[in-house]
Amino acid sequence: MTVFKQISKLNTEKDMIIPCYKGDMDHVQQYILVGKPDFDGTFSSFQMFYGKTGNRIYLLGLGERKDAVKLEQAFQKLCFETKKYWKKDIQINADKFSSEEIKKAAIGMQIATYEIGQFKSDPIASEMITVAFACSEENIEAFEEGKQIGETINRIKALVDAPANHKTPEFLGQWAMNSAAESNYKCTVLHQKELIEQGFDAVLAVGKGSVHPPVVIINEYLPKKGKAVDIGLVGKGITFDSGGLSIKPSQNLHYMKSDMGGAAVVLGVVEVAARLKLNINIVGVVASAENAVDASSYRPGDVINSYSGKTIEIIDTDAEGRLVLADALSFIIKKYQPKQLIDLATLTGSVVRTLGFAAAGMFTHSNEMAERMSNIGEEVHERVWRLPLYDDFESDLHSDIADLRNFSGKPIAGAINAAKFLESFTESSKNWMHLDIAGVAFGDSNYTKMKSASGYGVQLLTKYIKSLI
Ligand code: BES
Ligand code: ZN
Ligand code: ZN
Repeated sequence: MTVFKQISKLNTEKDMIIPCYKGDMDHVQQYILVGKPDFDGTFSSFQMFYGKTGNRIYLLGLGERKDAVKLEQAFQKLCFETKKYWKKDIQINADKFSSEEIKKAAIGMQIATYEIGQFKSDPIASEMITVAFACSEENIEAFEEGKQIGETINRIKALVDAPANHKTPEFLGQWAMNSAAESNYKCTVLHQKELIEQGFDAVLAVGKGSVHPPVVIINEYLPKKGKAVDIGLVGKGITFDSGGLSIKPSQNLHYMKSDMGGAAVVLGVVEVAARLKLNINIVGVVASAENAVDASSYRPGDVINSYSGKTIEIIDTDAEGRLVLADALSFIIKKYQPKQLIDLATLTGSVVRTLGFAAAGMFTHSNEMAERMSNIGEEVHERVWRLPLYDDFESDLHSDIADLRNFSGKPIAGAINAAKFLESFTESSKNWMHLDIAGVAFGDSNYTKMKSASGYGVQLLTKYIKSLI
């Protein structure tokens, strides 16, 4: 358990973190006994000095000013590596920080408390720690915001890291219901019966092979009563992607529990917006299913229907994400007509081969949305890189027997083809954006030996949404 609070002044007898940029160390001298410390402020480096009462004083390097976009990582590393030595309380010298820096520092302190070993029979008992930010009253709001965002990032990381035998589509629905009750927004979960009645045929097709039936989760945070929906968010919620009958190789297959990374961002962002009481109308839709292998699984060659009425020839059952998203996109457009629409999905291996782990693939016809998202991506260090939606790729979706097919059959331009498929379910909506987060949602971290959830997307989308207000 970690308690966060704001204080107006540092208690010099207690443990503290003194952040410092390279070449900007003058403020350090008043806290430590040595005149000039052997410390140059390299990003994410730290050095500990003992104070007068045996208290610990950590100098934390923030590197160059340009490194401030990833400031939370420096705080996370310091906390992660030293918190076992703290005497319950830790203070942060944040009086020189801007509101953005305070927000990032609070996020860093929060995400350092994330415990991944939830399923160990003897989980590490986390100590009660008080984190005190010494900052001016006017930055309290930024501090509170960082605290909330960090807390939700931890909650969605826990979701993405959860194993698929625990994390069924129903489990995601229940998570959303609980979040809605706690954070004051409305959540509706459509179960199999409603999905059949309402025609979510593509979601149902993907989920057919699983004993855990699919769900569609609808989160409504609509504080502006009677006004239009400002932004619609759609997330891919495949709780495990075996590939279906077009089965994936078994190496790294265990990581396909993270194929609901897009859904996690959508669930998290609606939660954050509600907790921060943002004055903006948001609807989040998550289409969740397990892509499993069974006698009743959908097959390559099948022709299925979809919520939009378009028929789809299945070429590859491993291209399942675009199918569930197609229904969720058609649904949100029909029911809510959001002014802007953004979907997030761990959609293709192709985007990982293109952009690695450095950025999400961004697809949109709106230059304005693209520019805004690119800028914010740089600012929060959750980067996006635009890829094209050229008409040239349209023919790849041609099917002789159905309205379109779910895969071109060619080993090229996979991320673009997937985006083009989604485009045909957005009624050429000018203000639609697709973010392929397959490379950034889950990966190596300094804090785990195996790959784990990154929390990518919560800061990006929260800041994007705030920029629209
Ligand atoms: N969930 C995968 C994409 C993925 C790959 C996510 C690696 C994270 C890491 C998706 O459903 C998939 O299997 N896509 C296929 C599509 C292909 C069969 C058309 C791909 O990209 O290989
Ligand atoms: Zn797949
Ligand atoms: Zn998938």
